[in-house]
Amino acid sequence: MANIDWDKLGFDAYRTKTLVLARWKNGQWSEITETDEFQFVLDPFTCVFHYSFACFEGLKAFTQKDGKVVLFRPYENAHRMQRSARFLGLPEPSDEMFVQMCEMAVKANREFLPPYGHDASLYVRPLLMGAQPKMQLTPPNEVIFAVMVAPAGSYYGANMKSFSAVIPLNYDRAAPKGSGSYKVAANYASTFRPYQIAHEQGHMELLYLNSSTHEFIDEFGSSNFFGIKNNTYVTPLSDSVLPSITNKCLQEIAADLGLKVEKRPVRLEELEEFEEVGGCGTAVVINPMSHIEVKEVLEEEPVKKVYRFCPDGEVGPVSTRLYKTITGIQKGEIEDIHGWCHEIKDF
Ligand code: PLP
Ligand code: COI
Repeated sequence: MANIDWDKLGFDAYRTKTLVLARWKNGQWSEITETDEFQFVLDPFTCVFHYSFACFEGLKAFTQKDGKVVLFRPYENAHRMQRSARFLGLPEPSDEMFVQMCEMAVKANREFLPPYGHDASLYVRPLLMGAQPKMQLTPPNEVIFAVMVAPAGSYYGANMKSFSAVIPLNYDRAAPKGSGSYKVAANYASTFRPYQIAHEQGHMELLYLNSSTHEFIDEFGSSNFFGIKNNTYVTPLSDSVLPSITNKCLQEIAADLGLKVEKRPVRLEELEEFEEVGGCGTAVVINPMSHIEVKEVLEEEPVKKVYRFCPDGEVGPVSTRLYKTITGIQKGEIEDIHGWCHEIKDF
């Protein structure tokens, strides 16, 4: 077992040991291999560096209360990666290949898998990228599919607490009919600069509106949006947000807990009406918002409008119940009635 303080883990590119790899060349996948050389050696002309020919996934492995080791909904991630790959013109790893490689990565790095009882997990990061040196804007005929892992605690630090977000009206995340609903690397590059400014201003998150009209809420930079009002879980219907697996789970959990669930366009002004608002995703799980500011120009004063939900640091009752239920299922403390936990056999 690695010498890690499991209670102090954040969410970072923690260097583990074994990388699981498959290479695609001239229309065929290679054998799956494992290597402890934790690096890629690539020609500087390799297209991923220049043209961002890459998509990735994020899922978690947990040690459950009874000792079982599970991946949380890995087939959902497999399907989403296949969709991203099709969008980019990259070859699609099959369901079996995707899940097998994730299982291999967890097993090979078992010393980094947090034991039960620490609110921590092993984050699994599959990456599919163009590995051919080329200048032409055509899909590569050499591709690497790699799965790495990193032990992870909470994305935002220990204990769930609320943070603020800002809507930067001078930045958009995704073009209409663009790549917003795919988990492609390029979607993230354009958020780094506004994130940096938002962090300097004390905000944890960016909330993006639909880029064509700025009338509707799309999603946060790292996660989907949900709002709670009148015992209803509301989440945006938009073709430029990433279809979040966590959000899909929370919609089912909300229904199980007796809430109404609405997936529909959410107008910006509706923020006024929500009792609780949060982000949801694999890394963040649930990220409750204390307030959200709207700024015409992120870099400049004034703040155009502030929507308030709960005092700084506090978390609303529905968000708390949703968080406890999803993490309880992941940790094997609450019955997995939907069959979301995929056991890694012969661990
Ligand atoms: N939205 C964005 C932009 C993300 O990067 C993520 C993280 O994967 C999500 C939403 C949440 O998706 P999931 O719940 O499948 O992790
Ligand atoms: C995840 O939640 O798995 C993510 O990929 C979020 C990351 C981009 C911060």
